[in-house]
Amino acid sequence: MVLIAPSILSADFTRIAEAVKTVEEAGADLIHIDIMDGHYVPNLTFGPQLVASLKMKTSLPLDVHLMVDNPNAVIPWFLEAGADWISIHGEASVHLHRDISLIRDSGRKAGVALNPATPIHGLQDILKDLDFVLLMCVNPGRGSQKFIERSHERIQHLRRWIQEQHLTTLVEIDGGVNLQNIDVLARDGAQVFVAGNAVFNDPNPRQAVSLMKEIAGRVDAS
Ligand code: DX5
Ligand code: ZN
Repeated sequence: MVLIAPSILSADFTRIAEAVKTVEEAGADLIHIDIMDGHYVPNLTFGPQLVASLKMKTSLPLDVHLMVDNPNAVIPWFLEAGADWISIHGEASVHLHRDISLIRDSGRKAGVALNPATPIHGLQDILKDLDFVLLMCVNPGRGSQKFIERSHERIQHLRRWIQEQHLTTLVEIDGGVNLQNIDVLARDGAQVFVAGNAVFNDPNPRQAVSLMKEIAGRVDAS
């Protein structure tokens, strides 16, 4: 299982639909949409209207990463807008089980996102209810940051833990993923690769996506 999820955070915001089309044609599997509220993270990005508009422009699943305080209040907006995958930050949710149930009861895929310093074992009592875990490999809030090397161990640990329990929960990684490190990250056990800078700031985004898929796919097949 290898899924490439280009993050439109690094696309030209005046031409998002074109950016999505480009990566879709290149073989992307998901479109990653970073929602930032200016409180949970010091940046503001998109709201549900963008998700609803993109829903009409692509057949790819929309992977909505909520970097917001009180996700419970906004999850319904994104369900309504057509988000297919929704991740909420474990650190920001007051009633994590309730929020995850809200997403899953709507038939969408639910994930918990964890910041680089949040212990993975905190997921112990919710892991079985998750479709995916999104491990942040940078501090959330902006694109083009440097990959935090400690994340390798976290990915390995999480994947091992999921396998030991025979769960199908996917390991998604976000932040600092690029053409140079994707091979090692796939070996670590990552399955869903978010990439913003490495795709949209590449002179050839189409090629970047297909190369990422090829490199990670080779590891997966071996
Ligand atoms: C950061 C976002 C990421 C971001 C990753 O807070 O969650 O999805 O787009 O960007 P790159 O791939 O540029 O590190
Ligand atoms: Zn993200």
